[in-house]
Amino acid sequence: MFERSINLKDSSLSTLHDESRQGEALMVEGEGQYSGRKLYIESYGCAMNFSDSEIVASIMKGLGYETTTQYKEADVVFINTCSIRENAEQRVRNRLREFGAAKSKRPGMTIGVLGCMAERLKSKFLEEEKLVDMVIGPDSYRDLPNLIAKTDEGDRAVNVLLSREETYADISPVRLNSNGISAFVSIMRGCDNMCSFCVVPFTRGRERSRDPLSIVQEVRELFNNGYREVTLLGQNVDSYQWKGTANASETELSEPLNFSGLLERVARINPLLRVRFSTSHPKDITDEVLYTMNKYENICNHIHLPVQSGSSRVLELMNRTYTREWYIERLDTIKKLIPDCAVSTDIIIGFCSESEEEHQDTLSLMDYAQFDFAYMYTYSERPGTLAAKRFEDDIPEEVKTRRFNEILKKQQECSYDRLKQHVGKTHLVLIDGFSKKSGKDYSGKSEHNITVVFPVHEAFKPGDYVNIKIANCTPATLIGKIDY
Ligand code: SAH
Ligand code: SF4
Ligand code: F3S
Repeated sequence: MFERSINLKDSSLSTLHDESRQGEALMVEGEGQYSGRKLYIESYGCAMNFSDSEIVASIMKGLGYETTTQYKEADVVFINTCSIRENAEQRVRNRLREFGAAKSKRPGMTIGVLGCMAERLKSKFLEEEKLVDMVIGPDSYRDLPNLIAKTDEGDRAVNVLLSREETYADISPVRLNSNGISAFVSIMRGCDNMCSFCVVPFTRGRERSRDPLSIVQEVRELFNNGYREVTLLGQNVDSYQWKGTANASETELSEPLNFSGLLERVARINPLLRVRFSTSHPKDITDEVLYTMNKYENICNHIHLPVQSGSSRVLELMNRTYTREWYIERLDTIKKLIPDCAVSTDIIIGFCSESEEEHQDTLSLMDYAQFDFAYMYTYSERPGTLAAKRFEDDIPEEVKTRRFNEILKKQQECSYDRLKQHVGKTHLVLIDGFSKKSGKDYSGKSEHNITVVFPVHEAFKPGDYVNIKIANCTPATLIGKIDY
């Protein structure tokens, strides 16, 4: 099974994926009532979860907690969890065993489970995992002061209420493990789509959009603090919709605003700020968004457009509400309006009743689409989802694995081919640090979200833009030199 494990310092974390990522908090000192207590927080899952951990760190900082990177010395250990696939949950349970061992040596330690697994399992978690003291769903982080007080009194605490309004708009995130250049900015929460395989609508609740003023303010502040790239986050960014409030004191809040409008506002903050967004649903991405991308150079030419399957019948079972033909039309329009646009995707392999022919349909769609990058997953049945209720998870594991390997091979070849097409071109690269392999090289990203490595030049530092002439490539990286 294809899984990436990415260091949080890697700025490629621009999509809503990857339950394998794991993070630790930077040192942050708080001044509240619990001054001197230490918090350790570790995150799994998508970028949204990592972004939520920054909200949690901010609330805990307000209570006086300082963060530590050593869970063994923490007073509170939080694990922000993901439920998207069975193995994501398994990883969390294994980690909880390790935290439990530390707690047995340090009885005062409080262990809290946050995020999607907390929401999915609710108080059952306390029954299943005896060492867990707190279970907190993604919409309940404001309740942390009460929950901490409860556990201080020796009680176990649960809050898994989902909200129709919560966006944490007024909470200024504490940037954890940031490179100081790229940041995630959450613009909406929840999901109203009911893809039959997906647990997110159950763990994250209904869709709601954050007020545009607070988004613009947060991004402006990031820019003033030296950040040069933001990724606007939502499970389905294209359905961002600020409805406008009748009694708003600020005019910006009284008017309705859609995603295209928000993108434009963020892009106008400063031309030196790169803007990305994730994730787009193929049924919702509008031509208006594509025109806005074209209008502003600083909106990166990269769209993450999860297809899931190349078969219209499977897509229907998945309740994706588009067909193979619809997806191809969206791709064609993207390539027509933005010829230089990179497109990445997600693919689920071995969904209920997927035939050999339908698997071939996915492979042929990949041939057509020429995705620059893809996240590929074998189907994992999630309890409570529509698919779990309606369909049998009937593709044998060995067939799923074989199909997965065929899809993986095709994508690896395609990604390499796509990279080779950049050789000889010059790309504007935002430097995000030194290359992992050599302190003599800088590493950065092209607007297509491709890593570009080139020799360090003293005139440039991380956070600067530089034109790089691409000379070569490996299967995952472009290699070049500064183009004067
Ligand atoms: N909102 C995003 C998806 C978030 S989940 C979107 O609609 O694109 C990220 C990816 O995980 C999905 O795109 C899908 O490919 C994969 N995924 C979700 N549920 C899954 C499951 N039950 N089994 C395997 N993969 C799954
Ligand atoms: Fe899940 Fe579908 Fe919503 Fe994405 S759009 S989070 S796959 S239900
Ligand atoms: Fe994200 Fe995993 Fe939840 S992908 S929304 S953390 S189930």
